[in-house]
Amino acid sequence: MCKVSLLVCLVLVASVFVEYVVAKQHQHHEPKVKFYELKKGNLSVKFTNRGASIASVIVPDKNGKLADIILGYDSVEGYANNTPHLGSIVGRVANRIGGAKFTLNGITYKLIANEGNNTLHGGPGGFGDVVWRVSKYEKDAQSPFITFAYRSFDGEQRFPGDVSVYVTYKLLGYQKLSVIMKAKAINKATPVNIINHAYWNLHGHNTGNILSHTVQLFASKVTPTDNASIPTGEIVPVENTPFDFLKPQTVGSRIDKIPSGYDINYVIDGPNDHKMKKVAIVHDSKSGRVMKLWSNSPGVQFYTSNGLINIKGKGGVVYGPRAALCLETQGFPDAVNHPNFPSVIVNPGKTFKHLMLFQFSAKGTEFAAVAAKHDEHHEPKVKFYQLKKGNFSVTLTNRGATIASVIVPDKNGKLADVVLGFDSVEEYANNTQYFGAIVGRVANRISGAKFTLNGVTYKLIANEGNNTLHGGPKGFGDVVWRVSEYVKNDRFPYITFAYRSFDGEQRFPGDLSVYVTYKLLGYQKLGVAMTAKALNKATPVNIVNHAYWNLHGHNTGNILSQKIQLFASKVTPTDDAAIPTGKIIPVKNTPFDFLKLRTVGSRINKLPSGYNINYVVDGPANDQKLKKVAIVQDPKSGRVMKLWSNAPGVQFYTSYWLKNIKGKGGYIYQSSAALCLETQGFPDAVNHPNFPSVIVNPGKTFKHFMLFEFSTKI
Ligand SMILES: *[C@@H]1O[C@H](CO)[C@@H](O)[C@H](O)[C@H]1NC(C)=O
Ligand SMILES: *[C@@H]1O[C@H](CO)[C@@H](O)[C@H](O)[C@H]1NC(C)=O
Ligand SMILES: *[C@@H]1O[C@H](CO)[C@@H](O)[C@H](O)[C@H]1NC(C)=O
Ligand SMILES: *[C@@H]1O[C@H](CO)[C@@H](O)[C@H](O)[C@H]1NC(C)=O
Ligand SMILES: *[C@@H]1O[C@H](CO)[C@@H](O)[C@H](O)[C@H]1NC(C)=O
Ligand SMILES: *[C@@H]1O[C@H](CO)[C@@H](O)[C@H](O)[C@H]1NC(C)=O
Repeated sequence: MCKVSLLVCLVLVASVFVEYVVAKQHQHHEPKVKFYELKKGNLSVKFTNRGASIASVIVPDKNGKLADIILGYDSVEGYANNTPHLGSIVGRVANRIGGAKFTLNGITYKLIANEGNNTLHGGPGGFGDVVWRVSKYEKDAQSPFITFAYRSFDGEQRFPGDVSVYVTYKLLGYQKLSVIMKAKAINKATPVNIINHAYWNLHGHNTGNILSHTVQLFASKVTPTDNASIPTGEIVPVENTPFDFLKPQTVGSRIDKIPSGYDINYVIDGPNDHKMKKVAIVHDSKSGRVMKLWSNSPGVQFYTSNGLINIKGKGGVVYGPRAALCLETQGFPDAVNHPNFPSVIVNPGKTFKHLMLFQFSAKGTEFAAVAAKHDEHHEPKVKFYQLKKGNFSVTLTNRGATIASVIVPDKNGKLADVVLGFDSVEEYANNTQYFGAIVGRVANRISGAKFTLNGVTYKLIANEGNNTLHGGPKGFGDVVWRVSEYVKNDRFPYITFAYRSFDGEQRFPGDLSVYVTYKLLGYQKLGVAMTAKALNKATPVNIVNHAYWNLHGHNTGNILSQKIQLFASKVTPTDDAAIPTGKIIPVKNTPFDFLKLRTVGSRINKLPSGYNINYVVDGPANDQKLKKVAIVQDPKSGRVMKLWSNAPGVQFYTSYWLKNIKGKGGYIYQSSAALCLETQGFPDAVNHPNFPSVIVNPGKTFKHFMLFEFSTKI
């Protein structure tokens, strides 16, 4: 085969080999192309890793009717031939580069012209055409998200340098979709302008044109273009031109004055400081849907899909011009060739960041948005908060609305921390034992990880054998709560944590608005008020606090010599999987009898794994009044804790399952290091009609109170 000379032949073979290896590396195994879905409340969004594209956005209209409001294809194959870039990420440099070239640090880079003499959207094989890797996909998170990753190589589409790109789509707050586009230049300076190219029709992707949509653009200037759509370099005011959307205007009001419709870069008002700014509000009066858009980009391309011709889309609908509008937040087009435009150059080691935030609502349903306003905008920061009154102080953290420490004096006035926990807020992100945390939506166990309510069977996530424990793998103790009030300097200092649980979270039905208040009252009293309003569906609710108490001090060994009295004459015994059998039996003449004050350890050896059982608190069940629950006394320190609650049950748990957990001050917590008194609805009540119901109907509010008093006398 190789007839020239051995050397030439070797070089040839070597270079073919190198090319082969390079190509192989880039393909490695090309990831499979699939659809991925994120869901939160009534908002659901589908993606595909071809082009890291948004494939559908489904949101309710003013009557609650759902529709898909972006253009796209039914199958992933459609995205392999997505010439209009429906929903896709576009890059390395979106929009046009005039003459398909630019000069950077003295080198002229000749690109591939794919629109006349210009390069459009990164060239013929841009980021919208390639297959991305799914680097993270967390469907069940509080703010579910997916991250697509792509490694762009030096010379790809003739751009300089390797670039590592990540695009994260995340659902947060009330019907919000955020898009985070990041690109790190690894080894060479390169232009970067990565955007999302969704085509919006708020009436529904298949409902005709968007000429009656109202658009408001927070942009007083545009960068006009020549007849090849390349910016002239001028930046001109929109005032008195058909481009003026400073006040809301219908898209169609002046579109005929522009030869082929809108396709121009607007300069977003405000400083070019990379901070989030209002970009646009779009409203469709027919459906009532409203879309608001914020971004940190300096520009936004407003495009009325003028070039969309005969594109066969979802459900066989054929998309044409004006079927949708695009709001591509971006760096200015052809910025590489206009020194007066904000630079799009990213130097080696630096990272490009482009953020978009969409919010969907519907006119006439703003009340829902207002009701959800307390919902987190961005996930709140996790911190410690302290409440203090006299010698009594309590520390809390908004991860899990958790009690992190309770410091009280002993009989000699010596202070100690009497609950188990961690030193740093970070450690509460891995609080497998629920130290001090609020547990929900349904604390304790649900057998078979399922229940039936109003004829619908809900299948939950089993996270303890076949059962659901403490609300599922990511319950209320694991999520970050918002601090809705924090009043430190009051006579009765308090803090209120808020959490908006969404329909389908951990597979429970309906939206739920939850508040937990911790308040210091009177002399060394701590009140805990847990409320949860069911917004739209009936749902079980059983929210508890899971503090681990050791009155001698969190780091002093076991609680077996401490004494306890439980104002409860009955228990709900369980099977081997800790699921109630349904019976309710007296404690008399059993090791469970704590009707009189007794040491915890007196009969614990009669039980295979210590106490872990629901007691039926004496007094009428469900009258919602506070009742005496327990008194705990530590003879060594003299500390006494009294507990009252309105709950019908209390789980008495002697922390048998605590094994080698590194806690505060590096202390290692072991079995029996603490006891829990989780006042609660009965475990698995959803599957036991003879237990007090834990169902909360729409519009109704669950209320659970606990009152602790610390002293040194019984
Ligand atoms: C979801 O849609 C239902 C039905 O329209 C509505 O009742 C409910 O309020 C919506 N949830 C949210 C969070 O908007
Ligand atoms: C491309 O550039 C050449 C040379 O300047 C010019 O003759 C031609 O008209 C251009 N093509 C288009 C489509 O603008
Ligand atoms: C674009 O404009 C240039 C100069 O203004 C003109 O010479 C050229 O013919 C125009 N090209 C097209 C395709 O209209
Ligand atoms: C706080 O502790 C000190 C020292 O033991 C004691 O003198 C004081 O009375 C305590 N204050 C209250 C309000 O209990
Ligand atoms: C979380 O805690 C468990 C149990 O203590 C431990 O095995 C694990 O390494 C921890 N994980 C992290 C990420 O800290
Ligand atoms: C889960 O249920 C299956 C089927 O009933 C049973 O075989 C299995 O032993 C159960 N697992 C546990 C951990 O209880």
